Amino acid sequence: MSHLTADGTEDIARILEALRAQGADDDFLFRARTHLPRLHRLFSELYGDHPHGLERLGEVCSLAASSWATRPLELKALDAQREANPTWFESERMLGGVCYVDRYGDGLDSIRRQIPYFRELGLTYLHLMPLFESPEGNSDGGYAVSSYRRVNPALGSMEELAALAAELRLAGISLVVDFIFNHTSNEHEWARKAVAGEPGFEDFYLIFPDRTMPDAYERTTREIFPDDHPGSFVQLADGRWVWATFYHFQWDLNYANPAVFQAMAGEMLFLANQGVEILRMDAVAFIWKRLGTACESLPEAHLLLQAFNAVLRMAAPSLLFKSEAIVHPDEVAEYISPDECQLSYNPLQMALTWEALATRDARLLQQALERRHALPPETAWVNYVRSHDDIGWTFADEDAAELGIDAFGHRRFLNDFYVGRAPGTFARGVPFQENPKTGDARVAGTTASLAGVEAGDPAGEDRVVLAHALAMSTGGIPLLYLGDEVAQLNDYSYADDPDEAGDSRWVHRPHRPEKNYAERTDASTPAGRIFGRLTDLLSIRRATPEFGGNTLWPFDAHSSAVVGFVRADAAQSKVLVLANVGDHPARIDALTLSGWAPTAADLVTGDSVSLSDGLDLPAHGFRWLRVSDRS
Ligand code: GLC
Repeated sequence: MSHLTADGTEDIARILEALRAQGADDDFLFRARTHLPRLHRLFSELYGDHPHGLERLGEVCSLAASSWATRPLELKALDAQREANPTWFESERMLGGVCYVDRYGDGLDSIRRQIPYFRELGLTYLHLMPLFESPEGNSDGGYAVSSYRRVNPALGSMEELAALAAELRLAGISLVVDFIFNHTSNEHEWARKAVAGEPGFEDFYLIFPDRTMPDAYERTTREIFPDDHPGSFVQLADGRWVWATFYHFQWDLNYANPAVFQAMAGEMLFLANQGVEILRMDAVAFIWKRLGTACESLPEAHLLLQAFNAVLRMAAPSLLFKSEAIVHPDEVAEYISPDECQLSYNPLQMALTWEALATRDARLLQQALERRHALPPETAWVNYVRSHDDIGWTFADEDAAELGIDAFGHRRFLNDFYVGRAPGTFARGVPFQENPKTGDARVAGTTASLAGVEAGDPAGEDRVVLAHALAMSTGGIPLLYLGDEVAQLNDYSYADDPDEAGDSRWVHRPHRPEKNYAERTDASTPAGRIFGRLTDLLSIRRATPEFGGNTLWPFDAHSSAVVGFVRADAAQSKVLVLANVGDHPARIDALTLSGWAPTAADLVTGDSVSLSDGLDLPAHGFRWLRVSDRS
């Protein structure tokens, strides 16, 4: 039994001594001296009362040392390179892509063969959706992991993944995989051992003998997958209850047990040494539970992420975390810092882009850019139009109220609009997890189907381009759902597959749309037109330093349908972005533009534009204008 001491000096000295005895090299010891005090403090806050807190901390450090000792040299070189340039991911050249290995291809080798196409697009970041061993049939698209060290044999092997990571790196592309650390599948060996009561594993999950504790917790928790099971718990065959926030086969880990932290740190370090450069931290909001709370985004969730981050700084310093927190915007922001998650999805901008397209009113989006866009240094947003998940309307009720919008009714309207229930809608989406008890629902659909291309709406293609133009110009890393660049539509065949029928998100996870790709240079097709327009924008973005970083000043275009903002680079060169979400042309008058010198350069057309007579923005149109201050 060994408790952590509040003043860590002695504990730290002892751990460093043990690391030296283990043969840790000077480089590692230097990192340990730098980061161990922080890790010790985090451990004391999380596990100060735990009888094995100190032991576990020592073991985590020892794991980190052995991981560093076996870290491939090319990854150590990458570590040095990234440490010398900690803002590398803020470059205007960054572009992300995301795909399922078994849908966009038929395994890791087929993804490898796509590298030339990824280079053509300009990807610098490739997120391969969960590819680990997971249960047969429904595995929540791989989000139920049975082993973090084995690739699903249908997709390839861990050796192939490491080789792919290396090949991608040579092509200038960072490999991103999920770190699904809130839960494992019920088939993971830890889960089997926990159910069997094997010593050391009893406390890996939250298992209760009867309904007393589950009832108590469920008084304050939210239902996440109500179509699968009510509440937060599911019953085991022997009558006991286990915590399962998502599907019944995804069991939440018990991070109050430091052995769980240690075990997951081991899996994380293993993945780091395979050459993964960014870990997408899945479901971060749920990792700590406390009775009487919603069990979401508790302070300990942050301490845990910071502790994982500190472990990496010692043993794989180039690795980054991307937070997946699809929650209230205040909470989303709390996960973002160099010490916690350097990157984060930007679910607010994503949802509000769709909100603006439905309402033809850009005010909520403009307000979000004004007050919720700024980030700490050395962090970045990942801006996306849609992901593999549903769209949830995660804007803040209080922000909406300021604009006179009733949040509850507005979310209802948006759900109806996007699932095709509102009169005059252009969208062809499908409801996801409609909860009759709360009236809550989310929306599934591909970009093209949601934007009107599927319905044959004449403005559909413009909306697809407009939504991407926003994601490409607000800063951070734009992330493409691969296939959307060639206008892939919803795939309704999921309804015929018993493993997918209950989860409408499959509607927007089609197989690689071969026909659309074949048409991508044919401007007589939607695929060709959208591909041509998006790839033009992507190459303009790459050549526009103002689009790097995150600096953004709102610009009031004096029109409720127009989003306006200015981006600037380090040399204070500026690009004015104006985007019209409305169905009618918008006029920006000369007075509104009078702060700028009268001549601007249109980055998309290459023309010089006079601002002295005002500007017309076509319906669903946008401008990227390099402007200069009036001297
Ligand atoms: C994340 C994933 C989602 C999955 C859930 C449970 O939200 O994006 O697809 O269902 O976590 O792992």
